Amino acid sequence: MKLWGGRFQKSTDQLMEDFHSSISFDQRLYKYDITGSVAHAKMLAKVGVISVQDAEKIVAGLKEILADIEAGKVEFDVAAEDIHMNIEQLLIQRIGDVGKKLHTARSRNDQVALDIRMFMKDEINQVAELLKELHNTLLDVAEQNKETVMPGYTHLQRAQPVTLAHHLLAYVQMFERDSDRLKDCYKRTDVMPLGSGALAGTTFPLDRKFVASELGFSKVSENSMDAVSDRDFAVEFCAAASMIMMHLSRFCEEIILWSSAEFNFIELDDSYSTGSSIMPQKKNPDPAELIRGKTGRVYGDLTALLTVLKGLPMAYNKDMQEDKEALFDAVDTVKKCLMVFRPMVASMKVKKESMASAARGGFTNATDLADYLVQKDIPFRQAHEIVGKAVLYCIQQGKTLEEMSLEEYKELNSSIEEDVYKAISVEQCVNARKVEGAPAPEAVQQAIEAARKKQ
Ligand code: ARG
Repeated sequence: MKLWGGRFQKSTDQLMEDFHSSISFDQRLYKYDITGSVAHAKMLAKVGVISVQDAEKIVAGLKEILADIEAGKVEFDVAAEDIHMNIEQLLIQRIGDVGKKLHTARSRNDQVALDIRMFMKDEINQVAELLKELHNTLLDVAEQNKETVMPGYTHLQRAQPVTLAHHLLAYVQMFERDSDRLKDCYKRTDVMPLGSGALAGTTFPLDRKFVASELGFSKVSENSMDAVSDRDFAVEFCAAASMIMMHLSRFCEEIILWSSAEFNFIELDDSYSTGSSIMPQKKNPDPAELIRGKTGRVYGDLTALLTVLKGLPMAYNKDMQEDKEALFDAVDTVKKCLMVFRPMVASMKVKKESMASAARGGFTNATDLADYLVQKDIPFRQAHEIVGKAVLYCIQQGKTLEEMSLEEYKELNSSIEEDVYKAISVEQCVNARKVEGAPAPEAVQQAIEAARKKQ
């Protein structure tokens, strides 16, 4: 017999039963569902809708069910549809008719909204914690690589020298904004919807603030229809998760490139690489590739949620049951990726010499040579032209700018002196960029200290 079976004369078709049942995936909300029900029962007694004794029986029964689920002793029933009715059914089986009072002044519509919000609050905190650990790891690796010169790229062409620390700090900034987005999303998730009923509130004199404080919510929802029908907080989380994945994915793309023989900038630890079943020499950066690949899943989850919601008339519609798998997948994927990414980066070997020699090739100091000429009072546009000629000459001669003799430089422009060699050494190119937010080791040190304070 269904908990809603009163007005039905026929039982549900078997195929339909499987089709609309969500217990296979929403059972992971059991703890929130029970905690929410305990608070609801206590409140019903507080306002006199049920007796204190009844509430005590309900609460004791719910706690027993929680312990049994946790001990793996409960088998859920597909016919009971979802986690909410499974628990209510179990309660009635265990404590009898008193259990039938729990659902007074409540609908599964406000109940499921509550459960998801409680779940999301916990998960947002966990993702934020993982981001914080990543932030600390990146700062530690940056600290060790303030003098590790490497080429900075634009268009994937060597552009100007930077340091690995500076490069990592770019990601630190991105992940800091990601944390801010999560904190912001938390604020809008932290709203207690119970009391909204199916859509139009309830006739009972509920104490919603009491429930909110029992469950650690800082606000109660302000419109019953909105509270049961929107999942914008879940969309926001998926958007924030997508952004985290996008940042991780870019970083992974670089790790994949850097581990190739062509770049040879890093080597991943054996514990974060895999081999090939046919090519004995292979050591592949699989975790980085998987994270890059899984980014698509999370974007898919975001798109799925947005699409589920876009055509829904007010208020609750069963389409909304489709929110959970996408949301759970986004939560699980972003957490796993962060968990793997951090130790992968922490354990990778940095090939400093190889990075520095790449920085010395590819004319990454050409801008600095132009800046040198500007100091000799040559207008920048003209300096640019002169250096362009020098680069062309070097390419033809098969040498670098540092390898040009002073005579060759003099021929290019008579104001060039011996001090040009110091000005264009890649170390000097980095050290001279002291402006706030630039790669000189002292500017990077300040950036690291500022970033440490933010956590
Ligand atoms: N399992 C449903 C969901 O996840 C719970 C709410 C169902 N409410 C209803 N009236 N059918 O959305």
